[in-house]
Amino acid sequence: MNPKERWDEVFKQGKDFTTFNDIFIDEELLPRLTPKEGNIPRTLLDVGCGTGDVLMRMQKRGFDVTGIDASSEAVRIARERTGLDEQSVVVGDVDALGLDQFHANTYDLITNKLVIAFIKDKKVFLKNIYDLLSEKGQLLLITPLLYSGVEYTKPHTKGIAVDVEIIESLLNEQFSKVNLFHRDFMDDNGVLGYYLCEK
Ligand SMILES: C[S@@+](CC[C@H](N)C(=O)[O-])C[C@H]1O[C@@H](n2cnc3c(N)ncnc32)[C@H](O)[C@@H]1O
Repeated sequence: MNPKERWDEVFKQGKDFTTFNDIFIDEELLPRLTPKEGNIPRTLLDVGCGTGDVLMRMQKRGFDVTGIDASSEAVRIARERTGLDEQSVVVGDVDALGLDQFHANTYDLITNKLVIAFIKDKKVFLKNIYDLLSEKGQLLLITPLLYSGVEYTKPHTKGIAVDVEIIESLLNEQFSKVNLFHRDFMDDNGVLGYYLCEK
């Protein structure tokens, strides 16, 4: 099953993954972002935007937002929630050539929440993200993490998470700074890691 079919089915069942709340953005995230001179809006690309929760929240804070997702069902909902058009929230598979339509050196912030575990070639993906970031642009990567030696009791955890050593090594290879700045403990589902990485 390709990502579009797989995720359309999930979103048609009414599932959502909205755990990116306003307090977290205002108190944890915004103070860590590289400031921008003057009144120029910061540009954001949400890769794997789902139903547009991140887009909507960051739009409210003045970001000029763009999203991409494999699921046309999720994109339909994201457009509805944000009022954005087909140019700003697009359907695309980022494991294929989905990111090629965006311009290099453009985005001040790229967000990628609960997606990287599903990406086939994570090294190529992170290189593509790096190229799209503006100078000193930042990647916010949010993902469930697996720690070696820890037994995960929920059988699905492994499918939605990435090995902490592997992902940190890939991030460090690509980015000049990598900071695991926040962790949420998800009971027996493990740990959700929040990384901010600078170009
Ligand atoms: C767990 S959901 C998270 C959605 C959203 N980031 C959120 O937090 O609400 C994973 C998302 O990744 C998207 N996705 C998975 N593989 C993808 C791919 N190869 N290209 C584009 N999007 C993909 C899915 O369609 C889905 O919307």
